[in-house]
Amino acid sequence: MIIRRGSPLQYLIEMNSFRYFHPPEARLAPRADATSRSGILVCMSQEHPPLPVGVSHGQHVPVLLKATLDTLKPNKNEKYLDLTAGYGGHADAFLAKTENFTEAVLVDRDEFAIAELDRFTQKGARLLHQDFVSAAEALAEDGEAFDIVLVDLGVSSPQLDRAERGFSFTNSGPLDMRMDRRTGRTAKELVNTASEDELMRIITRYGEEPKGVARRIAQAIVAKRPLTTTKELATLIEGTHRGRRSKIHPATRTFQALRIAVNDELAQIERLLPLLPKLLKSGGRVGVISFHSLEDRLVKRYFKEQTEAGYEAELSVITKKPIGGVTHDVHNPRSRSAKLRVAVKK
Ligand SMILES: C[S@@+](CC[C@H](N)C(=O)[O-])C[C@H]1O[C@@H](n2cnc3c(N)ncnc32)[C@H](O)[C@@H]1O
Repeated sequence: MIIRRGSPLQYLIEMNSFRYFHPPEARLAPRADATSRSGILVCMSQEHPPLPVGVSHGQHVPVLLKATLDTLKPNKNEKYLDLTAGYGGHADAFLAKTENFTEAVLVDRDEFAIAELDRFTQKGARLLHQDFVSAAEALAEDGEAFDIVLVDLGVSSPQLDRAERGFSFTNSGPLDMRMDRRTGRTAKELVNTASEDELMRIITRYGEEPKGVARRIAQAIVAKRPLTTTKELATLIEGTHRGRRSKIHPATRTFQALRIAVNDELAQIERLLPLLPKLLKSGGRVGVISFHSLEDRLVKRYFKEQTEAGYEAELSVITKKPIGGVTHDVHNPRSRSAKLRVAVKK
């Protein structure tokens, strides 16, 4: 099977299937020939590069770190805003350059990430435990402007690896999938209450499953509910699978779809993008890293609108083509499907 670079399918493989097919030690095994060639993923067990030295299973490795530093060019004393600070990998590197902790703002909607980021508050940084739209609106309203804004979309490795978060179908856990556990409906509520048509729409739109497959999965869910664990759901979806087994687990796309729906991920991105110029000083830089085409399409469209807006444009796009993890960050498996787009405030 040919899997195109940066396609949703490649993303799914990166995020879930590798852990389905391979024990952690397989991911850690050093390999010499660990890059994908010509955009074709040939054999999964042969393809993943080793994690960087000193990084263990479940630890989050910042994606496209060098590329973000090279393009966003943090300077001493500059003001840094990280809208998806996660485990602070990018923040560590950027703040090492700006040395300006006291004006830095780090945002995440996940309480585990916020607990991890506490180390930055000891140096004076401000943490906001909020979704990035609410945080961006509040900062813009307060007239705060930054030299660098970073948005590294999606989930972190620790979110995927902790069974109790309910993101993963390989480790059984409660069907939760909320990044922010204080609010919103869980995946359990969604699968147990949504109509068959709504489930089908979610699986088609956010999982990009063909309609026939999505219908079968939605029907099976409705017939079997209530469902409570990720394993139950994954096994149910496996049972609906017809034909030859592909390399990805049959539940991969549905899990992605539910996660996007539970966290309202695409609407969050759509609402955030027009707020970005308001958060930048003149000459300030923004970088957005996306992991699949559903996300990247939104960023690309917004940047294109800016490019075409002529005198009215607030941003000038400096990445005519996105910087891709396939060529710019071959040592980090999570980077494979990542795309970085960068713009500067006029
Ligand atoms: C890929 S990780 C970021 C990793 C980070 N750059 C690092 O180096 O550690 C994405 C993070 O963004 C957070 N996140 C995703 N969507 C969000 C949103 N709409 N609002 C706030 N945080 C969000 C997730 O909880 C997760 O911690």
